[in-house]
Amino acid sequence: METVRVSASKEYNVYIGSGFLSSLGERIKEIKNPCRAVIVSDDTVYSLYGGTVKKSLEKSGFTVCEFVFPHGEKSKSLLTFGEIQEFCAENSITRTDLFVALGGGVTGDLTGFAAASYLRGVDFVQIPTTVLAMVDSSVGGKTAVNLNAGKNLCGAFYQPIAVYADCETLSTLPEETFSEGCAEIIKYGMILDGDFLTFLQNNSIKDNIEKVIKRCVEIKRDVVNRDEFENGDRKLLNFGHTIGHAVEKCSNLTISHGNAVSIGMVIAARGAYKTGMVNEDFTKVLLPVLEANSLPVKCEFSAEELYAAALSDKKRSLDTISLIVPEKYGLCKIQKVSVKDLKEFIKQGLN
Ligand code: NAD
Ligand code: GLY
Repeated sequence: METVRVSASKEYNVYIGSGFLSSLGERIKEIKNPCRAVIVSDDTVYSLYGGTVKKSLEKSGFTVCEFVFPHGEKSKSLLTFGEIQEFCAENSITRTDLFVALGGGVTGDLTGFAAASYLRGVDFVQIPTTVLAMVDSSVGGKTAVNLNAGKNLCGAFYQPIAVYADCETLSTLPEETFSEGCAEIIKYGMILDGDFLTFLQNNSIKDNIEKVIKRCVEIKRDVVNRDEFENGDRKLLNFGHTIGHAVEKCSNLTISHGNAVSIGMVIAARGAYKTGMVNEDFTKVLLPVLEANSLPVKCEFSAEELYAAALSDKKRSLDTISLIVPEKYGLCKIQKVSVKDLKEFIKQGLN
């Protein structure tokens, strides 16, 4: 078992290993006295792993209740958020109890925000079960739900008290969902770690999954330790996301986050080169590694459609938008772009 320690406004460990789900209760008991535990999970994940987690928590003295919601991005909504709050109130959950997020990024973001808000803040643990959630969303404390206007527009920075990534759960992940997580993995190599990017170009992610997850969590940990509340460096983690979120929005959330980020990174790299922001075209690095991991690199939406969707992105401040663009091999920079120039940037990035 590998451990990565995060030192943000809250200090906590991220555990990465295989086959420890059935002893989770014992592990959580090391940091939290037995209490009432609310497992929040989607229907797919709960049917696969809910029973094991519940049994393990009960064996260690926790009293468990569960809130299960329909899988998919559309559940990351104010509606489901409200249902969780009401469920907790009806079940007399108190401030000293515990939320347990069991699932992918949708579950983690939703549960984290519910934990941040219920009684003004209840402890929560993340048990990520997708590649994407293990390498990215479970670590660093960004929690949110989507609004009609765009992704993640309502949320909070709220750190978990621990993260338990059991890679054995990835064995049931559909191939496509596994690939979607690879977009965020490649993102880390592109923004901050050339050696890691080279490793990804030459090796299979699947065959090295624990090592890859650990490296991604370390990179994210370092960024979050420096800039938890995204006043500077943390913006780098949004590489591919401004346009990616626009892709998700244009697709009415039918294109997954990972696939949208893949497309967003390509548009950002190409747009940056063709508009003269950077001297090198890093699509030559990006395209082969994304395609080798079965990720999409093209988009069916027009520059006009993406532009309109991107304008509601929360990273917009007044009349500028922060874009993350690859400047060197394994290094991105934050580039402010005026809103009026964004459409041309997207247009150039599309082809
Ligand atoms: P997801 O949570 O919807 O999971 C994808 C699908 O896989 C779901 O249908 C789920 O039921 C299924 N699934 C999950 N684990 C499984 C398993 N082990 N076996 C079989 N099926 C399984 O989506 P995701 O890709 O994990 O996360 C995407 C979300 O994460 C987006 O909402 C995105 O905005 C968010 N995100 C947040 C952050 C952050 O920092 N908070 C970072 C990146 C992405
Ligand atoms: N996934 C972006 C961030 O955590 O900042």
